[in-house]
Amino acid sequence: MRHLRIAIDGPAGAGKSTVARELARRLGIMYVDTGAMYRSVAWLAVKYGIPPSDEEAVVRLLEEHPLHFETNEQGELQVYAEGHNITAELRTPEVSNVVSQLAVHPRVRALLTDWQRAFSRMRSVVMDGRDVGTVVLPDADVKIFLTADLRERAKRREQQLRAQGFEVSAEDLCVQLADRDARDAGRDTAPLRRAHDAHQIDSTGKTVGQVVEEILSIVERVVLQ
Ligand code: DC
Repeated sequence: MRHLRIAIDGPAGAGKSTVARELARRLGIMYVDTGAMYRSVAWLAVKYGIPPSDEEAVVRLLEEHPLHFETNEQGELQVYAEGHNITAELRTPEVSNVVSQLAVHPRVRALLTDWQRAFSRMRSVVMDGRDVGTVVLPDADVKIFLTADLRERAKRREQQLRAQGFEVSAEDLCVQLADRDARDAGRDTAPLRRAHDAHQIDSTGKTVGQVVEEILSIVERVVLQ
């Protein structure tokens, strides 16, 4: 199969990671969760009590505690900090609440963008995030902008978090998701935005399987061209 780069962007909770993971599995290619990379920086900031708004301090933190990214046997990104695999610790409400504050920093973004581009040069990838189709891989073969109603996104997040044992309410999550989207879309560097050549898919009321099939048919058209 030819070298493929598939970019999936969209707001928080639109189902990007679930869809991207399944799509990568179906195509037998690597899945790079760029949100996990930003979350790993937030994980370090929370651990060491670094204010996420202080770019200088966050960059210093990364120099002192370098993160390492690699793939597992399933072709999924794994994040290592201080010699431990922290991938399973990145989706806590605490990390979610600070991550978009440090994702605004150009120096943090430049560092992570380099890693993301390096992955896409080595292997065929499905990469999801906010700026993949616009900044990281502007010449991706397929670009998807995945959206869903805010209420449905909050409901999905509530189910995910409750399954992990967190006590959360859909109302609070609605406010938090809207805040995060506003920060992600309002920042100066690489804001959340639909690339002009992205296919927009609204996942409201659709199953993961339906969305994956929709994307696969777009991928097939591109590959057969
Ligand atoms: O996709 P996620 O919810 O795991 O992303 C967490 C945060 O990371 C999100 O609020 C914004 C930031 N992010 C980003 O700025 N750029 C990306 N490519 C991916 C995530």
